[in-house]
Amino acid sequence: MAAAIKNVTVIGGGLMGSGIAQVAAQTGHRVTVVEVNENAIEKAKNGIQNSLQRVAKKLYKDKPADAETFVKETLSRLHTSLDLKDAVKDTDLVVEAIVENLDLKHKLFSTIDSVAPNHTIFASNTSSLSIQDIASVTKRKDRFGGLHFFNPVPVMKLLEVIRIPETSDETYEKMTAWGKALGKTTITCKDTPGFVVNRLLVPLLAEAVRMLERGDATARDIDTAMKLGASHPMGPFELADYVGNDTTKFILDGWHQKYPDVELFKPIPLLTKLVEEGKLGLKTGEGFYKYD
Ligand code: CAA
Ligand code: NAD
Repeated sequence: MAAAIKNVTVIGGGLMGSGIAQVAAQTGHRVTVVEVNENAIEKAKNGIQNSLQRVAKKLYKDKPADAETFVKETLSRLHTSLDLKDAVKDTDLVVEAIVENLDLKHKLFSTIDSVAPNHTIFASNTSSLSIQDIASVTKRKDRFGGLHFFNPVPVMKLLEVIRIPETSDETYEKMTAWGKALGKTTITCKDTPGFVVNRLLVPLLAEAVRMLERGDATARDIDTAMKLGASHPMGPFELADYVGNDTTKFILDGWHQKYPDVELFKPIPLLTKLVEEGKLGLKTGEGFYKYD
């Protein structure tokens, strides 16, 4: 079997990309995060620092010196870049975590396909797009797959590994082994809309928003109901705000375009309104709820 993955490039340092980069660096990988401007890089760095402190506190409860060393060593393996082509020229794995937009993902993968080394595996963290569609612009479909993480990446234990018919056994095995090296439990799913978790979770969020729209119950009561009646760690509105209302809308819109007859995927006016107003959830300070 070919060498294991050591150098990783994470493209997009938002909510997901920064979490993926952090966990990869925590587990000994050399990681480069690519972003579009200095502001975004600063935001990613701050997010990673904060999250790393929480992880360190948990891992080294009564050993502050060890906690400090852990943070320092992890950060020493983390690099940032604004130069996409340069950031992939010596990497074993690219994990793409930019916005959920097929045209932008196409542009990105076609740019790096010609510059990344031959052995480099490309993976997308897409929530809902088809991996086959994303891979279509590259000449390395045998070295392409989906690596779908969950938010917050440092805490959530699952990784969905998606293979398309062209994904080679070697690529699939390397992706799965990398997931395990990150400390995640991996499951395998075909390239179907939403894979396993989102195909079940996103319709739940959509139905909760429709319930609120109809005036059946308040957001607070629906959240309380699902936490106390179904033991969910967050209610659907807390979770929608946590995931990002723009992301949930991108997912539903993409599915609606592909499957226009499925009622569950049809646009929801209340969600559209929130997104148009910039109320994207926790990341903008307001969504279904307000945050300080
Ligand atoms: N980084 C590091 N550690 C973190 C963290 C982060 N970003 N967020 C939380 N933690 C840690 C905390 O430090 C805390 O650690 P201790 O147990 O040592 O105290 C622990 O996680 C629990 O956190 P909190 O006490 O702050 O809050 P909580 O108990 O409510 O847990 C939560 C927070 C883990 C987010 C929990 O509410 C939860 O599991 N929510 C559901 C999340 C979920 O469903 N995610 C999937 C979304 S769907 C998706 O991601 C796919 C997609 O494509 C859209
Ligand atoms: P986000 O908006 O928080 O972050 C996206 C980041 O990508 C931004 O920082 C943006 O500046 C950057 N970016 C955009 N175009 C870029 C480019 N060409 N090069 C480099 N960086 C670029 O989004 P997110 O929530 O992190 O989602 C990222 C991806 O992960 C999406 O495909 C989403 O569907 C998927 N996902 C999201 C969640 C979630 O809970 N939010 C969970 C799993 C998967």
